[in-house]
Amino acid sequence: MKWSDFFTSSVGKKLIMSLSGLFLIAFLVVHVGLNACIWAMDDGVMFNKAAHFMGANVVPRVLEIGLFAGFLLHIIQGLALEFQNRSNRKKGYAVKMGSKGSAWYRKSMGLLGTLILLFLIMHISHFWVPSRITGLEPTYIDGKEYHDLFGRMAAVFTDNIGIVILYVLGCISLAWHLVHGFQSAFRTLGLTNHKYIRLINGLGIGFSIIVPLAFALMPISFYMGWV
Ligand code: HEM
Repeated sequence: MKWSDFFTSSVGKKLIMSLSGLFLIAFLVVHVGLNACIWAMDDGVMFNKAAHFMGANVVPRVLEIGLFAGFLLHIIQGLALEFQNRSNRKKGYAVKMGSKGSAWYRKSMGLLGTLILLFLIMHISHFWVPSRITGLEPTYIDGKEYHDLFGRMAAVFTDNIGIVILYVLGCISLAWHLVHGFQSAFRTLGLTNHKYIRLINGLGIGFSIIVPLAFALMPISFYMGWV
C-alpha cells in the first residue's frame, strides 16, 4: 500500500484525526494555563508578559504555524470522515443498533466541530488579527512596550453580553467535542487495554469539564468585573 493510499483510507484518516487532536489538546493546556494569568489580580501585567513571550519568540512562532496546520488538518480530515460516515449511515448497517447506537455527541462530532470552527473564526478576529496584523494598543510595564491583550479582552467582553454568551456556547461545544474526542484519540492509537481505558476515560471526562469551564469563566470574569 502506498503512503498516499494509507492517508486516504479510513484507518489513515482516523490516525490523522487522533494525532492532530492530541496536538490540539496540548495547545489547549498551554492556552488555558497562559490565559489563567488574567486572574493574578495585577491589571493584566503577568498575562501581558506571558502573551508577549509567546508572540515574540521564535520557537512559539514556529509552533504557531504548526498549530494552524494542525487545525486545518483536523478540520479537513474531520469533514472527510463526517461525509464518509453519513454515506455509510444512508446505506445502513447489516446489524440494526436501535437505541444501543452511539451517544448523540459521538454522532454529532461533525456538527460540534463546525460550531467550534465558527467560534474560532470569531475568536481569531477578536485577538489574533489585532495582535499580529492590524495592531493593538501598547501598554508599558517597567518602561518596556507590550501588546495590551488584557485591555483587548476587557474591551471585547465588558458590557458585551452577546459576545460573552457566544464564547460560553463555544466552550460548551468544545466540552462535548472533547468528551468523545479525548478517549477516541487514545483508542485509535490502540490503547484499548482494559486497565488503561478506564483511566483514559476518567482523564478525558475531567479534562472535558475543567478546561472548557476555565475558558468559559474568562469572558464571564471580565463581564462580571471579577478581574
Ligand atoms: C474562551 C476563552 C478564551 C479566551 C479569553 C482566549 C483568548 C485568546 C487570546 C487573548 C489570544 C491571542 C494571543 C496572542 O495573540 O498572543 C488567543 C489566541 C488563540 N486562541 Fe484563544 N481564548 C479562549 C479560548 C480558546 C479556545 C477554546 C480555543 C480553541 C478551541 C482557542 C484557540 C485560539 C487560537 C487558535 C489562537 C491563536 C493562536 C496563537 O496566537 O498562536 N482559544 N486566545
